[in-house]
Amino acid sequence: MTRHIGDVILQVDDLHTYCFTRWGVVKAVDGVSFALRQGETLGIVGESGCGKSMTALSLLRLVPRPVARIVQGRVLLQGENLLDKSEREMRHIRGRRLSMILQDPQTSLNPVFTIGNQLLEAIHIHHKGSPRTLLSRAINALSQVRVAAPERRVEDYPHQMSGGMKQRVVGAIALSCEPHVIIADEPTTSLDVTIQAQYLRLLREIQEETGLSIIFITHDFGIVAKMCDRVMVMYAGRVVESGPVRDIFNHPAHPYTQALLQSVPTMEERPERLYAIEGQPPALWELPPGCRFTARCPYAEARCEQTYPSSFAVGVDHTADCWRLQEA
Ligand SMILES: Nc1ncnc2c1ncn2[C@@H]1O[C@H](COP(=O)(O)OP(=O)(O)OP(=O)(O)O)[C@@H](O)[C@H]1O
Ligand SMILES: [Mg+2]
Repeated sequence: MTRHIGDVILQVDDLHTYCFTRWGVVKAVDGVSFALRQGETLGIVGESGCGKSMTALSLLRLVPRPVARIVQGRVLLQGENLLDKSEREMRHIRGRRLSMILQDPQTSLNPVFTIGNQLLEAIHIHHKGSPRTLLSRAINALSQVRVAAPERRVEDYPHQMSGGMKQRVVGAIALSCEPHVIIADEPTTSLDVTIQAQYLRLLREIQEETGLSIIFITHDFGIVAKMCDRVMVMYAGRVVESGPVRDIFNHPAHPYTQALLQSVPTMEERPERLYAIEGQPPALWELPPGCRFTARCPYAEARCEQTYPSSFAVGVDHTADCWRLQEA
């Protein structure tokens, strides 16, 4: 089956989400813009702490309160700005139109309730109907994620399932109300490689069946290559490069993207540290005025330190924020 990529369904403009901490204002998301099309998969990559999860949580308006606050920007879902919605309106939008699979399935499932109960809880928010109808929806949701014997599995507790199965249940909960957009935040980190591959294949199949748009957050460029149409690279709260996956792999334009790609561990290595770029990202509460990668960049010049670079087009739908691209 081939996938059809349609119009823009989600557009994020100049999003800023800050954390107000004892050390100062942590600019976790500091001017992020991007668009996602119907049926498309957009990857978000970058080192730990660069703002990937906070970007995702901002879209759903689920940033950790009271520390974090969305201070600026627009999140347009099918043209409607979610940042203007009331909390009540957001409850209708979450799950139903925009849904999220969280980083860790262990914490997303409640150990004291059955899988069926947890599915019903999600379905119940958006759908009315007799208990029997709702239950059959829950069973359908499980069979959509290829859980065998779903009518028996609804009786199970999370501890009776394997890690891969639990992750599929988390997926089923997120998909149960047929959202238009789903955000998957590192959904496979806790899975072994074979189960991970199965899970990714499953997500793609569901996308082909439903025309779902996916935002896929990951550390793993191998997953990006398999899953994503486009990718955006984040560094210290900003998107430093974005473009079609193939372009980014073949012609990475930002020195940070180049360093990330060069430091990708091979399958045999799989070390603890995912990327091995020299140095650390800057502290998000005392950011330099210029390019945030300057201190680690092999090509840094005086202007990089002074002024944040503009976004330069380096290909079709491919841009990068780096002064070196100005003359190109
Ligand atoms: N509750 C909080 N209080 C203060 N700062 C926070 C809080 N949550 C996140 N941050 C800060 O926001 C920044 C972005 O965090 P985020 O979770 O988005 O990173 P990430 O890119 O998802 O990293 P990872 O790959 O490790 O999941 C981090 O530098 C972190 O220090
Ligand atoms: Mg994260």
